[in-house]
Amino acid sequence: MAQNQKQIMSTAKKEYKRVTVKSLVDMKKNGEKISMLTAYDYSMAKIVDAAKVDVILVGDSASNVMAGHETTLPITLDQMIYHASSVIRAIDRALVVVDLPFGSYQSDPKEALRSAIRIMKESGAHAVKLEGGAEIKESVKRILAAGIPVMGHLGLTPQSIYKFGTYTVRAKEEEEAEKLMEDAKLLQKLGCFGIVLEKIPAMLTKKVSENLTIPTIGIGGGKYADGQVLVVHDLLGMTHEFNPRFLRRYMNLYEEMGNAISNYVSDVKSQDFPNDDEQY
Ligand code: KIV
Repeated sequence: MAQNQKQIMSTAKKEYKRVTVKSLVDMKKNGEKISMLTAYDYSMAKIVDAAKVDVILVGDSASNVMAGHETTLPITLDQMIYHASSVIRAIDRALVVVDLPFGSYQSDPKEALRSAIRIMKESGAHAVKLEGGAEIKESVKRILAAGIPVMGHLGLTPQSIYKFGTYTVRAKEEEEAEKLMEDAKLLQKLGCFGIVLEKIPAMLTKKVSENLTIPTIGIGGGKYADGQVLVVHDLLGMTHEFNPRFLRRYMNLYEEMGNAISNYVSDVKSQDFPNDDEQY
């Protein structure tokens, strides 16, 4: 048996033709780690889905990665729906979770539900993700009551960056760690199917994960989370200024793509491209 075939068999405990929110809870129960990656467009989502990533997150990090904003705050609900519907058209297997963007759920639960319904109806997504704990309890309840699966997001919540002031590790102090644990239990009790834990100490992730039956998905949360998520452009090395400790780059596409494009430019300039075989 080929080495990579063996690897696949030893990491995936069960074959999921289509990943659902229930599959994720089963994976946690069976001790199988969950893989999650962002995608914001059709072509990338096709590759990510074919590689059998369990969950595709249409993250509001599209605001940074796709649109070049400094924070996630400017992206709009319409723009999230555009990204999400492009991703949905590409996938056969993954569960697609879409971020409710800043300003689309914080003011009142009815607005939160309207925003979640728009995402589900107009993009065809499978679930939504919201940042926060007790403070968004009523919105989470209302969205869940409409039959829309909800994923939570605790720890470093980028939509609150101006409240935090920095992107440093959260919940290092006892009080914040306790609040995070309470929020995680609350989100589970309300009916969320999973929680992203961003940039918190590994031992806190361990404690939270052990106290919940729903899966935790870490980004900078260490090895004890039930799954991991990264921004796909970071993993592929397309972004090169962003270098947090938690990031493992699997390629240096910034350099490789730059070289390929420079070669194209020189081939055009030197009239090497197109050649006789590349024309009609
Ligand atoms: O928007 C995003 O990409 C996210 C991940 C960082 C979890 O929320």
